[in-house]
Amino acid sequence: MAELEVSSLCRKYGDVLAVDNVSFKVHEGEFLTLLGPSGCGKSTTLAAIAGLEPPTSGRISLGASVYFDSATGIHLPPERRNCGLVFQSYALWPHMSVEQNCAFPLKLRKISRQMRSERVREALALVEMEHLADRYPHQLSGGQQQRVALARTLVFRPDVLLLDEPLSNLDAKLRDRARTWLKHLQTKVGLTTVYVTHDQVEALAMSDRIAVMNGGRIVQIDTPKRIYGSPANQFVADFIGTSNLINASLARVGQATMARYADGQQLALPADISGNDGLAIMTAIRPESIRLTQRDIPLEASPATRILGRIVEQSYLGARYSYTVETLGSILRVESTEDLPNGDVAIHVPAEAIVTFAAGGAQLQPA
Ligand SMILES: Nc1ncnc2c1ncn2[C@@H]1O[C@H](COP(=O)(O)OP(=O)(O)OP(=O)(O)O)[C@@H](O)[C@H]1O
Ligand SMILES: [Mg+2]
Repeated sequence: MAELEVSSLCRKYGDVLAVDNVSFKVHEGEFLTLLGPSGCGKSTTLAAIAGLEPPTSGRISLGASVYFDSATGIHLPPERRNCGLVFQSYALWPHMSVEQNCAFPLKLRKISRQMRSERVREALALVEMEHLADRYPHQLSGGQQQRVALARTLVFRPDVLLLDEPLSNLDAKLRDRARTWLKHLQTKVGLTTVYVTHDQVEALAMSDRIAVMNGGRIVQIDTPKRIYGSPANQFVADFIGTSNLINASLARVGQATMARYADGQQLALPADISGNDGLAIMTAIRPESIRLTQRDIPLEASPATRILGRIVEQSYLGARYSYTVETLGSILRVESTEDLPNGDVAIHVPAEAIVTFAAGGAQLQPA
């Protein structure tokens, strides 16, 4: 196995640039997720790696093996790339048993009967489906069919595993378990994996790194923690989790740098941000990092991290409450385990919970 490298990949459909100059590397054994909204070019990128769709330009290689290179006219057919591909609709052949489904890719590769049954047994053991080898697809649950589809891919020992929304047909609970199980399997086998999803929870939970895509481009590529905690721009902040994005202006107050909002209230910012007093900015605040207290409770926090507002709506989510709070000339979504009535409230926002962007642009860096 080796590193998968995609460089300057472009795919045009008529006037539509579905993939626009995309470059990334996937290290050996790494789990990389392409994450983004519908139509952002995830599947097109994956199909280009698998060789199902010729890109317009760029280069794709696995170690020394060049899959595609528009400069030299190389386009390796899919069967010579040894990529294991699992789609959203992981259609199993209905007239074949689990065992026959898994053996089929090996038959195509002209592997001997004895070797075939050995490999099939090994792959079914990996997905914990050995005991159901004789069943037919219609006798299996969605999650079990999912596992067979994966076994059918693992059976020929692919160099790279390419998964396009493979869990989206499962219900929420099953999906949660399949996610844990799949990540465990990927780590155990050490398979270089490119995973496609529009589900940010799935991406955060499973990936070593995430490439966030928008409009055919990669807008940020980093670890889940850094993508969530330090989004590169407003799009990422908004797409990953539910951030409160609120307009403000930069306020220099003595030594401190604050965000000044439409209603005149101010909040301390985490670091000394570069930019002049009055600069138009956008602040992103995570709902779970905001704390609400009744206004008459003594405020232990520094006033620079406290503002006032009004709870206008509360909804019960089971383990916690979701609040809609009017403040800062805007609406703030807050999640809290505390049960508070509608009406006036004190809002505590630690400085480190705020990420600051230039209005309409990239994250502002410390000066
Ligand atoms: N065969 C095609 N002909 C024309 N346009 C296409 C074709 N396939 C895809 N596109 C366009 O290319 C863009 C990217 O499509 P792609 O399937 O890669 O999106 P995606 O990120 O996988 O979205 P989803 O999450 O909905 O699956 C879209 O705007 C889509 O409409
Ligand atoms: Mg897709």
